[in-house]
Amino acid sequence: MKAAKSSSIADKAVLIPAADNAGRFGELLKVVEGLHEYNVLTYAVNRDQELYDLIVRKATNIMNTHIGSLMLFDEKMMKLKIVASCGLPAKVVKSSSLKSGEGIAGKVFQSRQPIFCEDIEFDERFKRKSRVKYSSKSFVAVPLKVRGRVVGVLNVNNRKSRQPFTAEGMKILTLIADEAAMTIENRRLLRRVEKAYMDTIATLAKMLDERMPSTKGHSKRVAELSSELAKRMGLPEERIQLIKRAALIHDIGKIGIQDNVLLKPRALNAVERKIIQSHPRIGSEIVDRVEFFNIFVPIIAFHHEWFNGEGYPMGLSGPQIPLGARIVAVCDAWDAMISERAYRDPLTKPEAVAELIRASGTQFDPEVVKEFLKMIKKKPRQKPAKSLYE
Ligand SMILES: [Fe+2]
Repeated sequence: MKAAKSSSIADKAVLIPAADNAGRFGELLKVVEGLHEYNVLTYAVNRDQELYDLIVRKATNIMNTHIGSLMLFDEKMMKLKIVASCGLPAKVVKSSSLKSGEGIAGKVFQSRQPIFCEDIEFDERFKRKSRVKYSSKSFVAVPLKVRGRVVGVLNVNNRKSRQPFTAEGMKILTLIADEAAMTIENRRLLRRVEKAYMDTIATLAKMLDERMPSTKGHSKRVAELSSELAKRMGLPEERIQLIKRAALIHDIGKIGIQDNVLLKPRALNAVERKIIQSHPRIGSEIVDRVEFFNIFVPIIAFHHEWFNGEGYPMGLSGPQIPLGARIVAVCDAWDAMISERAYRDPLTKPEAVAELIRASGTQFDPEVVKEFLKMIKKKPRQKPAKSLYE
């Protein structure tokens, strides 16, 4: 009795010579490894340009081509522009910009469909009137689609092996393009959220300036000094930015202080001092309610704590006080001392330096004061800012 014929994949695989199977497996493994490495790296890069370069590098590596380019659609110019490439002359990169429907990439953009060509010289779709030869023979161009919108085109040309591209190759490039489109779009959205968030911080700082015209620009100067000092103290960029933003709204709680105390043109009495001393608590309660802002609570709440524990509102001391708050405390005091107030003249720079040294170890962290004094040694006095947002 004859065995029944089978058309299973396993049976077909038997027909492929073992050496071919091994070669094909090795090639696929290379592709999978490449894709994995690419996915890990896309989350690690910080700058947009690094991401664009990585997308092109991985696309050309995985597709084994000499040439690759990433084009993104510029919404203002209404054109596709090359943002990263490899194997293309700089002149071509600089001059390449295509409208929707123009050239191969423009057609891909317009039709939202990939274009795949084995040999451009013999492809009727790309016949040219002139005798100018195309620089590439085989190519694949796929759209970068995200949420139904095309944001760019990924092109690869000229396989190193001189073998034509396959339908499989096109699928792999589509995978890379899908991942790239999602990453690029996520970054754009994140930037929009960050901008809205920074605008909100600026508005809060402006509100405070409007209420206290006599100290206009104080928050911005404290923010600049604090971020510079944090940088000098070797803090990572993320913390420097956090300190800068928190410093910009460190006194936001003063919004909740009554006018007759906040705007009093003379020194405060004991009761009034108690009222004004509630501003770190009020400020931290304001920002604590907003998810994006609650990371500023430790700096806003504790910027009037003293290193020796005699500050307010909690009486924290030494390292119990967050470093960001210790940095803002010194910069806040410095700017207040050298600025004019309705009830006193500003201190001269040497007088303010002497005051910081006197309060080092009691009111202020000595390490922070030491670094601050080094920082301002040669620094000319900052001009008061005309506006917080210039
Ligand atoms: Fe304050």
